[in-house]
Amino acid sequence: MKFFVDTADIAEIRDLAATGLLDGVTTNPSLVAKNGGDFFEVVKEICALVSGPVSAEVTAIEVDAMVAEGRKLAEIAPNITVKVPLTWDGLKACRSLAQGGIKVNVTLCFSSAQALLAAKAGATFVSPFVGRLDDIGQNGMALIGEICTIYRNYPETITTQVLVASIRHPLHVIEAAKLGAHVATIPPKILRLLVAHPLTDKGLAAFLADWEKTGQAILAR
Ligand code: G3P
Repeated sequence: MKFFVDTADIAEIRDLAATGLLDGVTTNPSLVAKNGGDFFEVVKEICALVSGPVSAEVTAIEVDAMVAEGRKLAEIAPNITVKVPLTWDGLKACRSLAQGGIKVNVTLCFSSAQALLAAKAGATFVSPFVGRLDDIGQNGMALIGEICTIYRNYPETITTQVLVASIRHPLHVIEAAKLGAHVATIPPKILRLLVAHPLTDKGLAAFLADWEKTGQAILAR
């Protein structure tokens, strides 16, 4: 499973990219607004920090304007993926951008029917929002299972990757991996939580205390 980080925070991306565990980045207009700065400059800097796909979202809602914005965003760097919303215009823009060789992430997906359309429109990624479905009492992870099953039924024609978005806790990541989703885009805080386990901390403290008693040092040899 690929790990993307879901943020426009340059410092966070730099820090997490240094682990070597980051496969890409997703941003959206809300994340850009939250972090501030010039959109183009921020995205350019992110693209230089990670070699994998960096999603940057169009803000137009009509197909021609979406395509024009998408082409402009794609000029920022070779690793840009253009994000478009899951509307009829977004699907038409996806088709047009994809035919022009631009990778597209179709976002704001909340149903299997929408995911099927995104695949038919030539999306590289589809982004179902699990947390926002959970928030309204629906089962976000059930949607991931459905989309993965549907896509797997058409291995010859569907190459779209399921990019699980709106992740709120580590279990979302684990469940998505169990279902075979291709990518999880994870907020920095949740990504850091994945490593945490109290028994790891406790075990390490005990090992170090016992080692101390031996009076030895590995690098002293
Ligand atoms: O990037 C899209 C998605 O991950 C947003 O998450 O937490 O705003 O629902 P959230």
